[in-house]
Amino acid sequence: MFADLSDAPPDPILGMAQLFAADPDPRKVDLGIGVYKDDKGDVIVLDTVKKAEQWLVETQASKRYLSSAGNPEYNDRIRALLLPEGSDAHARARTIQTPGGTGALRVAGDFIHRLRPGGRIFLPDPTWANHPALFKAAGVEIVTYPYYDVETGRLRFDDMIAALGALTANDTLLVHGCCHNPSGTDPDTDQWNAIADVLAKTGAMPLVDLAYLGFGDGLEEDRAGINILAAKLPQMIVASSCSKNFALYRERTGALTLVGGTPKQGEAAVGHLLPVVRANYSMPPDHGAAIVAHILGDAALRGEWEIELTGMRTRIQDVRRKLVEALDGRGGRDFSYLAGQNGMFALLGLPVSAVHRLRDTWHIYATDSGRANLAGLTMDNVEHVAEAFASVSQGG
Ligand SMILES: Cc1ncc(COP(=O)(O)O)c(C=O)c1O
Repeated sequence: MFADLSDAPPDPILGMAQLFAADPDPRKVDLGIGVYKDDKGDVIVLDTVKKAEQWLVETQASKRYLSSAGNPEYNDRIRALLLPEGSDAHARARTIQTPGGTGALRVAGDFIHRLRPGGRIFLPDPTWANHPALFKAAGVEIVTYPYYDVETGRLRFDDMIAALGALTANDTLLVHGCCHNPSGTDPDTDQWNAIADVLAKTGAMPLVDLAYLGFGDGLEEDRAGINILAAKLPQMIVASSCSKNFALYRERTGALTLVGGTPKQGEAAVGHLLPVVRANYSMPPDHGAAIVAHILGDAALRGEWEIELTGMRTRIQDVRRKLVEALDGRGGRDFSYLAGQNGMFALLGLPVSAVHRLRDTWHIYATDSGRANLAGLTMDNVEHVAEAFASVSQGG
């Protein structure tokens, strides 16, 4: 089976990480991999996570199996983090724990394929690089819809709504809940309402990928989109992740939330989802979920976590503003749109040749698509990055 295999192509992002690690230049900047970094460029463990881990070491009495739905306290607390307790949507929803946001999306793909075998999934153009592969692996046909104009740095909203007219009740619409990856550009309230109207008219299933809750404008603000959809629609699926907002990346902590037309429908839908999980990975790993459940369930720790989350969010907003200030007057591409966008990512709108000059001449690493993780900026490197962006966008 293995003898005839040639070398597999290297993963583009991991390949870039290796190039970065091997670059001896002290000015090097990594804007590639999608992790939050602090002002020293470190990917830290949150203090609240350390406290919860300590608490777990001291109190956890058993590591016996849970169920395919994972940690029940985690599920209840994530459901309430997404949909306000006491709301109709919260009552109609049920949440299961998954191995990261990716696990949630893959289980959603398998579930959709099982319930609607001929259905298609509509993905935004552009979208997270893993979406197409993931839904293809689940056997779901992929259609793309226009979302963002790289040239102007704006949502292609009218084009998007026109394209979504092709949805049918058999199809699924994937939208990013906030901090769209890679564009950093999200619908506003009116636009969320218009998306909900298209979904109501066509009967298509919304699948919201919410990997950056709290990284945009705040926990309340960032869940506004899913709450608009839930209030207007009889069904919704949300794939959420604690990788970024709890900095739990390698602990693989995510969730899949199903909202039915009634609480009973939500319950029944989860009943059909669990066999999909059972046949896949049986049950999710507990450690990250136990940490999150403890933080969200303890008022003092939750307050501390919200402060840590606010710290991450405001640092990204600050470096975005600082970058745009540092670019002012340098000429070249107008990057001012970067200041008002959400979350870690931005599309630089540069050709691959310019992205390569960023790396080869300026030691700044971004993906070939021109996606930059602006959480890689610090107050120390932002001037260097601004000089480089301005230079390569003028052919330098
Ligand atoms: C848009 C989007 N969805 C899902 C994920 C998956 O996150 P996780 O690491 O929790 O699997 C990511 C991670 O980068 C993402 O950017």
